[in-house]
Amino acid sequence: MRSYNLIAPAKINLYLEIIGDRPDGYHELVMILQSIDLADRINIRAISDETIRVHCNHPQVPTDKTNLVYRAAELMMKHFPEAAAKYGGVEITLEKNIPVAAGLAGGSTNAAAVLVGIDLLWNLGLTQTEIEELGATLGSDIPFCVAGGTAIATGRGEQLAPLPNLDHIYIVLAKYRSLEVSTPWAYKTYRQEFGSTYLKTTEDLAARAAAVHSGEIVKAIVHKNATEIAQKLHNDLERVVLPAHPQVLQLRELFATQPGVLGTMMSGSGPSVFAIVESEQQGQVVKQSIREAIPDEDLELFVTRTINHGIQIAS
Ligand code: C5P
Repeated sequence: MRSYNLIAPAKINLYLEIIGDRPDGYHELVMILQSIDLADRINIRAISDETIRVHCNHPQVPTDKTNLVYRAAELMMKHFPEAAAKYGGVEITLEKNIPVAAGLAGGSTNAAAVLVGIDLLWNLGLTQTEIEELGATLGSDIPFCVAGGTAIATGRGEQLAPLPNLDHIYIVLAKYRSLEVSTPWAYKTYRQEFGSTYLKTTEDLAARAAAVHSGEIVKAIVHKNATEIAQKLHNDLERVVLPAHPQVLQLRELFATQPGVLGTMMSGSGPSVFAIVESEQQGQVVKQSIREAIPDEDLELFVTRTINHGIQIAS
């Protein structure tokens, strides 16, 4: 039976602005999403019986229907019943390196890899856009995870416009293992506190998205200027997550005072916090001094970098 090994990178949000409500209960967003080198590895294998089996090395990750990779495989079986009948089921083995429930799209990037992997296993010949459209029905971040690189995302987060590649910017990333933030909670709390400021008309929403697209942070990305990008980082969800989680606020403040840190921000709905630094070496120094300031085993620290791709086939 054939099998593929795929690399599924995490993402960070260089920018996240909540601009309005949507009739489907989600939010209208303007985000700038960036793939990073921290990645999960996924093996996907055709099996003769028409079932979906998921294995994972991480004890916190479920292997049943609640895992987005299971739902991605199920979606492909429903969408392509003839291929499922011809090729059978799939066995998916996840090697988790991306912290879970961290605001780094770990689950979404795994699901994106499964869609790409099944397309290959079943010789479906789908275009990247077709895979992204299937992914959008499972989660707002999945289309970006398929494409990767640097992109501006609008709508629910599923409408993508690529931005120039921004690879080799070094990042220090921190996440408390035992701390999880529920994304629905973060958005719901934001709506309760700041919903009165949301833009209402289609014209106003489009104008705000266009303003970000032609704004300062995108200019900084075009110029590949890490210092300017770092000064323009923004995440509206910090307004609800930081007051609720003093540990995250403390981490955020500690990063901001480290020599060599160009800028720092929470990613997505948190609780991971990242800092942009000048070099890998500087990243190691920052990592070390955060470790000394917070000698807590529960705190995971990574030095990583921006990359210019999404799901990749390793073999
Ligand atoms: O799309 P995804 O399943 O990743 O979203 C998780 C949750 O985040 C949603 O159930 C919703 O509560 C919130 N969300 C939102 N607006 C978005 C994206 C996500 O309110 N654009």
